[in-house]
Formats: sequence, structure tokens, C-alpha cells
Amino acid sequence: MMACQTDSASSDATDRQIENRIDELLSRMTIEEKIGQTNQLTLYGTTEELCAAISRGEIGSLLNVIDPADVNTLQRAAVEQSRLGIPLLIARDVIHGYRTVFPIPLGQAATFDPELIEQGARIAAVEASAAGVRWTFSPMLDISRDPRWGRIAESSGEDPCLTEAMGAAMVRGYQGGGADDPTSVAACAKHFVGYGASEGGRDYNSTSLTERQLRNIYLPPFRSALQSGAMTVMTSFNDNDGIPSTGNKWLLTDLLRNEWGYDGMVVTDWNSAGEMVTHGFAADTRDAARKAIAAGVDMDMMSHVYAQHLKELIEAGEVDEKQLDDAVRNILRVKFRLGLFDNPYIDTARIARVTYTEENLAAARRCAEESAVLLRNEGDLLPLDASKLRSVLVAGPLADAPAEQLGTWTFDGEPSHTVTPLAAIRAQYGDRLRIGFDAVADYSRQRLSPAQLAAFTTEASRYDAILLFIGEEAILSGEAHCLADLDLKGSQSELMAAARRSGKPVVTVIMAGRPLTIARDLANTDALLYAFHPGTMGGPALIDLIFGRAVPSGKLPVTFPVTTGQIPVYYAHHMTGRPATGNELLIDQTPVGAGQTSLGCTSYHLDAGFGPLFPFGYGLSYTTFAYDTPQLDKSFYTADETIHASCRLTNNGKRAATEVVQLYIRDRVGSTVRPVRELKDFRRVTLRPGESRIVEFELPADRLAFWGLDMQRKVEPGEFDLWIAGDSQSGTSTLFTIQ
Ligand code: NOJ
Repeated sequence: MMACQTDSASSDATDRQIENRIDELLSRMTIEEKIGQTNQLTLYGTTEELCAAISRGEIGSLLNVIDPADVNTLQRAAVEQSRLGIPLLIARDVIHGYRTVFPIPLGQAATFDPELIEQGARIAAVEASAAGVRWTFSPMLDISRDPRWGRIAESSGEDPCLTEAMGAAMVRGYQGGGADDPTSVAACAKHFVGYGASEGGRDYNSTSLTERQLRNIYLPPFRSALQSGAMTVMTSFNDNDGIPSTGNKWLLTDLLRNEWGYDGMVVTDWNSAGEMVTHGFAADTRDAARKAIAAGVDMDMMSHVYAQHLKELIEAGEVDEKQLDDAVRNILRVKFRLGLFDNPYIDTARIARVTYTEENLAAARRCAEESAVLLRNEGDLLPLDASKLRSVLVAGPLADAPAEQLGTWTFDGEPSHTVTPLAAIRAQYGDRLRIGFDAVADYSRQRLSPAQLAAFTTEASRYDAILLFIGEEAILSGEAHCLADLDLKGSQSELMAAARRSGKPVVTVIMAGRPLTIARDLANTDALLYAFHPGTMGGPALIDLIFGRAVPSGKLPVTFPVTTGQIPVYYAHHMTGRPATGNELLIDQTPVGAGQTSLGCTSYHLDAGFGPLFPFGYGLSYTTFAYDTPQLDKSFYTADETIHASCRLTNNGKRAATEVVQLYIRDRVGSTVRPVRELKDFRRVTLRPGESRIVEFELPADRLAFWGLDMQRKVEPGEFDLWIAGDSQSGTSTLFTIQ
């Protein structure tokens, strides 16, 4: 059994004690009370109505209660007025911070810094738990290889290894120093599973993932999150190969419970049990309830189908009461593990003491700093030397847009506490520089007239440098906010061109929830920092990077396409039988009237070539790092050995800086086709100017295992390439063999 791995709850004695308490409680529960525990609702009606339903034992969990005083009132109804006194589980989407907002998860992934991500999740948990939230619907572990999908913003990007590391770090952070610690917040591994692979990058759309793809790519981050102790799992909205996750018994019972031994709780996504009717997978809501409980869903979020039909289904013999008992056990186990029975109330004065502390803001600032990726720095324009400038024009719709820089899913983040780049530069350099400001556009989608653009060029030419903050408003990414076209919206490309025409140095910062197709815009800026949506402290972090108080170290957690039509484009693709060579004729080189042939043809797009604009793992620094060829301790290994790989890394520049060193492998021949490269480990390494260091990795050969032709997870003997490199396309490989 996979017990929760946090200190207190993982001890056998505590586990036994909890199971005994569950048995005792369950033996006293009526069917109605059991069904009540499976019912999760959002706030509705008056407090009195809600308290009455809670005291009748009709609600097991509530989401979106935001007033700490209300939490105690509602909890009192559960603990002191219901027959059995079972506490409520209060849930909330705390996705990248509660009050102190950290960068969006995609930005957090760009840090490649699990310790910092864990610290951020801990801070979110301390703040949220002070408001009574003891369950967050995070981490989102959906592998996202399609930037059209709005929820890529909530993901850790395209790679299973990075997503595993980030997800596990978040779980550790949320659940804190012991499951029954009152600042501990139960994590929710979501969305189980495949949701990020929706066809066309359109939210809620169907997926067609094979079991092998699921096991090799989409499931591993969930496995890791559960092994890190994640107490809950949320089913996804999509149907995979025709089966909605909420009704997928193979997924929720055979795999999750029987194969993985998971003993936490499974909740549906919002109304996803009810939506099985809309899918045409259930005939009506009664059928939906039957299918969800048969599949292994414990708690019904907001579709009411359990509350409406489970009793009748049990009485009709269509659902075994044992299935309901199992669901209730899983729910009560989470409540016991969180210590809610012993400590149900919150100290309402605590929230003022724990939010926006200096430590919280410093961590958010560091995370924003590490999450920004430097994609261009012509002539080493950055960092700017403030002592050599007299004036700077801060411009663009994202320069002073506190709500937008927080990004998607920030219900509790407060724009009034957010420090924008404009506020930060004024605070830090206002006494030394003449700082002009012109948003030019009020929001990212706004169209500008030629006259407005010309006026901007004139204005910009009066300054020594232009800092242009553009990108996407927060609402252009996130749930249901998908795009078919990823070019900069409104007139922002033209704005970049207008800045360029001023003849002054241009630094562009893009804040966005996803990779945008910026290939044609690059020539219009000397430097480009991709900041995602950087959160509460995004402003100071970006100004520190621009003026060199900090050095960029972020690396792309997702491939940037040249053009939308290339999607999906990701680094760990399979090798085709006719891979692109880089020598392909593009559309302009293809002679008019050329004859059709399949001889010598390769896999690419005539109008986009093959490669991405920027590969996964890519990011520049204010220094350059040199990698020597990786060294291995041996050439031959058995599948139970550990590969010791190392590489000399040298900082060739004049500034101390941090490099994200990445270890990739390729399995040359498999029983099924293998990816051209796979990330297996990474490390942040800080070097002084001129310093060289041997960076070492211990890679258990078991990490080379995959689900091959016979659908068994194993390491297949044969030859492997190994790279230690600064991104997914560079580096020299070394060969080794698994015997
Ligand atoms: C729907 C979203 O898909 C899910 O991620 C979220 O946690 C729930 N709504 C609850 O708000």
C-alpha cells in the first residue's frame, strides 16, 4: 500500500490508528451520511441554508469558501451540529500562490529548481491554510505539447522528467512538514489523465493516447506525485479513446488502486461525472453516478449525481454498498491525515501575520528571476549599465498591469500588492534616470493606428533605451482560453517595429501564458526576456535582470514553434524513417513546376522547415558556458547498476552565473521506436567567471526503462547515447551499453 509519505501519517502506528477510527466511524454511518461525504459543493445560498445542509450530513467538502470566519462557521455546523461531527474539507484552486503569487507553473518550470518550487508551494500552503483552505487542486501534471491549449500555463511544460520533478516538489511543499500540521494542505494530482493532449489544443477536447504513450509519457508524473505523498487525484474532463476519465475503471481502479496501490482520494473535475451524459457515455445522471462509482470515483465535484442517485442505485442492487464504503474510507482517510478531526478550526487572525511576509515576497521574487528566459541578447546589450544611461522609456501594455502579470488562476492574488516593472524601475532607478512611461496600448489586444505607432517612434527616439513590456493579458491563457493563432495579439508586433525604428536599443520583455510565435518579431529587438506571467514580484525581478543585479538562468520548459502549423513540435519526438537533415528545400527554393518524387524526401514542412524557433531547455545567460564531452565511469552496465556521468563545465565569461545542466539519453534501438532524446536529470550549477567544475550525475540504469512491445516496464539491453548539455539540441554525446 502506498501510504502518505509525510512524517506522521506514514508511520504504521498512525496508519493503523486512522484505519481503526475510519472503521469505527463508518460502522455508525447511515447511507445518507456516507453519500453526504462524497458530495462536494461550491458555496451556495445563505450561510444558514448551507449550515443546515452541513448539519444534516449532506456535504463532505466545500470549495471556494474565501472568508476565514465563514470557514469556522461552516466547520462548526459540521463538527458540532451534525450527528457524527465529521469535519468539512475546504478546497480551493491555489495554483501558483495564494496571496503572494509566484510565476505561473509554466514559468516555475523554467527555473528547473525543484527546491525553490517546493518553497513556493510551502508558502502558498501557509498562506492558504490560514484562510482555512486545507486542499488545493494542484499540481497540474498534464504533459503539454501544444501551446494553443490555454492550460499549458498551468503545466510544467512538455517533458515528463521535468514535470515529475516540479510536481513532486509542489506536493512536498503543500503537504509540508507532516500531514496533520495545520499549515499542511492536501495536494491534488490532476488531471488524471491525458488532458493536455486534447486534439487541436482545444480545451475539454478528446484525446487518443495509447496505453504505451500513457505509461511512458503521461502517467509518470502522477506516479511520482503519489509516491511523494499526494493525498488526492482529480479525474480529467477528456475522453481518451472514447472513455471519459471519470468513467474509466481501467484508469481509476485497475491501474491507480490495484497496480499502484494508491490509498488516497479520487475526486472528479467540476461536473465531469454529470458531463458523461453530455459526452453520450452515460444515458442519464443516474447512469453517470453508477459509472463513476463503478470506475472508482470517491468524491463528486459539483454534479450532484452521487447525492441524487447513489441511495436508489444501492437499493436497486445496481451499486454495491461496499463501493460506497470504499469511497467514504478514502475521503475520511484524507480528513484524518490532515488532522481535521482533532483540529478543525482556524485562527482567523493568522492570515494577516503570514501573508506577504518579507520571506514570501523574497521567494516570489527569486522565483520570478529564475523563471525568466533570455532568448536574445544581440551585442550583449543586457545587462544595461545604469551609470551609462540618462533616460529610459518604459513602454507597452504589460509594463504596469498588476492584474495581468499575476497570470491565470489567481483568485486570491491581489493586484494592489503586485509590483510592476514600472513601479520597480521607478523605485530602484528613479533618482538616477529619467524614466518615461507610455503603455501605448491599454491592453495586449488593442489595435493601434499608424499615427499612434509613428508618435511612439518619435517619443522613443528621445530616450537612451526602450524597455518594452508586451505579451498576453492573463485571460488569454488558462482554462478554456485556447488560441488557434499564437502571434502577438493586437498591434504588438507593429509596436516592436515602431520601437526599432527609433534607432535606440530595445529590450523586450514578453509576459505570456504560453510560447508565442515570435519568429518574425525577433529582428525588432536587441534583447528578449521571456517572463511568462511572473506574479506578485515580477517587476523587481525583471528590473534586476535587465540592469544586471541578477543574471538570467531560466531555460525553456517547452519548445517554441516557428509557426502554429508546426504544432505539435517537441524535442522528444520519435525518429521517423525519413528524418529531416536540415538540407531540405523550403518553399522559396522549390522550383515552380518541379516534378513529384518521393526519392530523398524527408519529414518537414515546406514553409517552416523542421526545427523549432527555440528548443526545449534553451536559454541564454550574461556569460557563456562551455561543456566538455561527457565522461562515464564505465562503458558497459547491467540494468541494476548506476551510471556515473560527469562533464566539465566552464564559465567563459566575466560574470558569475547559474547554468541549468541537463542530462539526456537516447536508446538507439528499442522493441518500439524511442525518442531522439529524453531528459533524465538536471542540475543548477553556479560558477564564478572563469571557473571550471566537474558536474556529476548518478543515473540508475533503471531510469532507462520504458514500456516496450510486450507492455512490460523494463530496461532493454543495447546501446545508448548520453549528452550533458545546455539544451535539448546541443552537446556532444558519449556511448554506453546496457548488457
Ligand atoms: C475545473 C478545472 O478543470 C480544475 O482544474 C479545477 O481544479 C476545478 N475546476 C475546480 O475549480
